[in-house]
Parts: sequence; structure tokens; C-alpha cells
Amino acid sequence: MSSSTVITNIAALVTNDPSLGDHSPLGLVRDAAVVIEGDRVAWTGESSKAPATDNRVDAGGRAVLPGFVDSHSHLLFAGDRTEEFNARMSGRPYSAGGIRTTVAATRAASDAELEASLTRYLAEALRQGTTTFETKSGYGLTTADESRALRVAARHTDEVTFLGAHIVAPELADDPAAYVDLVTGEMLDACAPHARWIDVFCEQGAFDGDQARAILTAGKAKGLHPRIHANQLSHGPGVQLAVELDAASADHCTHLTDADVDALAHSRTVATLLPGAEFSTRARWPDARRLIDAGATVALSTDCNPGSSFTSSVPFCIALAVRDMGMTPDEAVWSATAGGAAALRRDDVGRLSPGAYADLTLLDAPSHVHLAYRPGVPLVAGVWRRGVRKV
Ligand code: NIG
Ligand code: FE
Repeated sequence: MSSSTVITNIAALVTNDPSLGDHSPLGLVRDAAVVIEGDRVAWTGESSKAPATDNRVDAGGRAVLPGFVDSHSHLLFAGDRTEEFNARMSGRPYSAGGIRTTVAATRAASDAELEASLTRYLAEALRQGTTTFETKSGYGLTTADESRALRVAARHTDEVTFLGAHIVAPELADDPAAYVDLVTGEMLDACAPHARWIDVFCEQGAFDGDQARAILTAGKAKGLHPRIHANQLSHGPGVQLAVELDAASADHCTHLTDADVDALAHSRTVATLLPGAEFSTRARWPDARRLIDAGATVALSTDCNPGSSFTSSVPFCIALAVRDMGMTPDEAVWSATAGGAAALRRDDVGRLSPGAYADLTLLDAPSHVHLAYRPGVPLVAGVWRRGVRKV
């Protein structure tokens, strides 16, 4: 039998189980304890009622919450785009074309370099409290380069997304139809075995609605499930397409019509907001308040990538979402944990109630609200993943 551990003396425990504690969406339990058995949560409740265990950890009157579920990142890349960022901060606008710089560097990198870079950023995210990671291909854009990116990704996370349709590969820039044929044909065949999800950047300068529909439909036929980069830089068909195809998530959602908001609110497609991208491209913020008030499910993620959002920090995204996107601290913490899980159609992460994976973040603070109240401060004092203390 695996050994059991109680983490006790937790001032504020976010469970995301509304049947617990204050019965809010966060299921907040005061003076709480969590019992871990093997890789799972076995018990959650008030400290005074905790069952006997083999080991005991004293949280010292601090806050514990589920590990963050970062449902959107692009970590299979090489190179750096400092110059592009610098130029943007001097007034140059962001466009999809910058992706080409990273494609060239990524193609030139060895497998070992790609893997070392991925594991570096995954470790960086773990130190900041992230315990579930989604990551995408999309900087290879050839059959060989896309499939090797996914093979490397699959060694480190089970949430792997095929994004061959990030932009049209530079060598086929004059023949986008030929690139769509490649992505839906040979490239998809080579990539599908290594991925769970298929994604398309549906945007001016990338893929239009018809191309995106063709690509996602082909992916579905190969057993992949869709998610879409939608309505990031302009209004477009991405969100409606996401709902039409029952995508798990429409990501970015910065430029939405009332019809887009309504479609999301009446679907199970999650609106994943990525404020690191608006920060790094100095763009207008997505309106989380409007989505939540309409009844949509909102997730918050980093979009970590070298071009538009080079942050692996979910706490940073929570702070931005609270300050600039109309979210309350409770909503932002829910969106970065349970919301991310919903965007990945997972019910075994993003909550701390019996049966869930024992993925926990201990903050050096008395409340989860400090994630927004103390922006930029490294508050993560402990991280357990699958019941094992990592930080
Ligand atoms: O999510 N929008 C498309 N893809 C990334 C940007 C990638 C890049 O600029 O390298 C994003 O923002
Ligand atoms: Fe992205």
C-alpha cells in the first residue's frame, strides 16, 4: 500500500469543489487539511477532522490551491525574438509573420536542443505552481519537423497539440492550398499518433475559416479533438467555428461580437484567455467580465511562446486578469485551475477533492487572493505533482 500524507494547518484551501467549505465555486475551506494517498487526493476538510496518516506536513497557516492547469503553450521552439519585442515596445505592431523567425531557428535545432529547451520551460512553470501542461507544435511546419516536435512533447506531457496550421510554411507561401493539403494529409498522418489535440491559428495572415474547418475536420477524422486560436488580432470566424465543431476551447477571444459571446455561453467550448499575449503585444485586453456575465466558462493560461507571450507564469496572468480584464481574484484562480482543466476536458486535475490527482501548490501567503494582491512576487513555496513534492 502506498503511504499517506496529511498537509495540515492550511489557513485557506481552494478545492474547486462547491460541495465543500463555503460552497462557493472555489469550495474554500478554512483551517483545512488535505490527505494524499499515492498520487491522489484521499480526503479534504477541516484540519480537526483529518484522518490519521503515515506522514504530516505543516502548511504553517498558509494557502493551498490546486496546481495550475496551463492549457495553452508553445514550448517546442528554438531561438529568441528579443529584437521583435524591442521593436514592438517602440511602436511596431505585432503580426502573425514573426512566427517565421522561430520556424527557421526551430528547424535548425537538434532534437536534444529542442528537448532541453522544453524541459527548461516546463521546470520554470512547475516552480511557479503549474502541474498540468498543454503544449503545441507549430514552429516546424514540415512533416518531419512537426512530428519530431510532437514526439519530444509527448515524452513530457500527455496534453500535446498538433499545430501544423500555425502559418503557411514559408516555402509554400505562394500556394496556401498546397500547404493545407499537406497538413490534412501526410503531416496529419505522421503527427496524429503523438497528439491528443489539433489546433489552427484562424486569423488574417494565417488561416481563414474554410481552411480552418477543413484542417480541424480532417484532424477529427484521425481521432484528434479540436481547439482553435480564435479572434486574437481581429474579429473573425474562429469562435463560431470552435462552437460548431465542439472544440474544447477557443483561445484568445480578444475581439468578440455579441453573437460570439452568446455562442460560447451556450456551448461547452471554453473561452481561454491569454493576457500574456496582450501584455507582450501591447494590445487591448480580452473582456473576461463580459464572458463570465454571459455565462461562458473562462480559462486563463500563459500562451508561453517566444513571440507574443514569453512568460511561463500563471500567477502573472492571474494578476493581469484581475487588474485589467474585470475578473475577481476568486474567478481568476478558478479559471487558472478548474477552468484550465475544463479547457482540456479533464476532471482529474484542477480540483482538490477525493479522487483527483494530488497536484497542489502551497503559497507563502495566507490566501489565494495574494496571487493578484502581490503581483510579481514569487509566492509559490511548495508544489506537489501526482503526490510527490517537487518544489
Ligand atoms: O498564441 N497566435 C498564434 N500563435 C502564438 C504566437 C506565436 C508567435 O508569435 O510565435 C500566440 O500568440
Ligand atoms: Fe498560442
